[in-house]
Amino acid sequence: MNKIRVMTIFGTRPEAIKMAPLVKEFEKRQEFESIVCVTAQHRQMLDTVLDLFDITPKYDLNIMKHGQSITDITNKVLKGVEDILKTENVDIVLVHGDTTTTFAGALAAFYNKIPIGHVEAGLRSDNMYSPYPEEMNRRLTSKLATLHFAPTNGNKENLLRENVEEKNIFVTGNTVIDALLSVVKNDYKFSNELDNIDFENKKVVLLTCHRRENWGRPMENIFKAVKRLAISNKDIQVIFPMHMNPVIREVATNILKDLENVNLIEPLDYEPFANLINKSYLILTDSGGIQEEAPGLGKPVVVLRTETERPEAVKAKTVKIAGIEEDNIFQIANELINDKKEYEKMARAINPYGDGKSSKRIADHILQFFQK
Ligand code: UD1
Ligand code: UDP
Repeated sequence: MNKIRVMTIFGTRPEAIKMAPLVKEFEKRQEFESIVCVTAQHRQMLDTVLDLFDITPKYDLNIMKHGQSITDITNKVLKGVEDILKTENVDIVLVHGDTTTTFAGALAAFYNKIPIGHVEAGLRSDNMYSPYPEEMNRRLTSKLATLHFAPTNGNKENLLRENVEEKNIFVTGNTVIDALLSVVKNDYKFSNELDNIDFENKKVVLLTCHRRENWGRPMENIFKAVKRLAISNKDIQVIFPMHMNPVIREVATNILKDLENVNLIEPLDYEPFANLINKSYLILTDSGGIQEEAPGLGKPVVVLRTETERPEAVKAKTVKIAGIEEDNIFQIANELINDKKEYEKMARAINPYGDGKSSKRIADHILQFFQK
């Protein structure tokens, strides 16, 4: 049999982290030829992941531009990927999750009649505008895809409800756990400013926040709640690796600068970030991926959003939805900081997102698809 030519398309930091183990799996197997196309919707935040996992893209659309709109991203990815697909002979295109790179990359493949595998398929919040534009990106990508790699049974159920054929849905776990397990080490030593943090005597609270639907008042509420937490709990150290989007950095700096137990730092490379999760006490986040990773390391997560497309985590009690009002966020996080029993309940809950073997399963299913 000829090698299966798989083109993975991704562009942002989380897609890169979650696709990297899969790219490495294809590179390892002789049945596949791996072709990587990055859109570089993110630049620095993408490149550090490519370096870490030693991935050299064959194509780099280099589309990032400060202040560009979602439509700009869509146009550039659609045209850029189309140009590549016209000259590169590809058997299947793989996209990941719910970014604009994901949807526009899948649309370009569809227009060129190339089958699409959707990794991390079937997540739904059932609110078209939250997360925005991710909920619509993933719904549209499901319409375009041939193979659907769903992390959980619940994700599979969502796809069945939308009339996706059961034979094309595969429950695989989430590749983020493959990535996480490959970089976290209990004896990890930071080689940056985190080396000075007193992880033994301080409760480290790790904060991340970037979602578009939180821009404006919700984001101000979140940072005000964090400020109250820092002032009323002198035994905590808040660490916020700020997303590179300038919109977020400005609000965060205004509200949180000048607090001695809050560190506003640059985004961390994935290896130190994953190890920082492992050494933290509590996580406050509006990120999707971190809701899957942190419980894998026994760390409770307070979700800074009104809903989540990861209900299995809520059910498993590894995460709590705090919403976007200052008082609620303060109270839920404050309880976990000060009530050991409540904290331990969450810390001991079992993570529903996988066992570190998802990439292998996905590669096996793709092989079977072509063998048929
Ligand atoms: C994007 C995705 C979102 C995903 C998130 C993960 C869309 C519309 N949004 O949101 O789904 O959850 O990534 O982080 O697909 N920037 C840099 N350097 C970088 C990365 C970003 O300077 O390496 C700055 C640039 O000014 C860029 C801006 O951040 O224009 C926003 O990036 P963009 O990809 O448009 O949106 P995100 O908010 O990062
Ligand atoms: N992450 C990282 N460095 C940071 C913050 C996050 O490497 O400073 C990783 C994190 O471990 C997770 C991913 O980036 O795997 C989450 O990305 P993000 O929150 O930007 O996007 P989302 O998961 O919400 O799509």
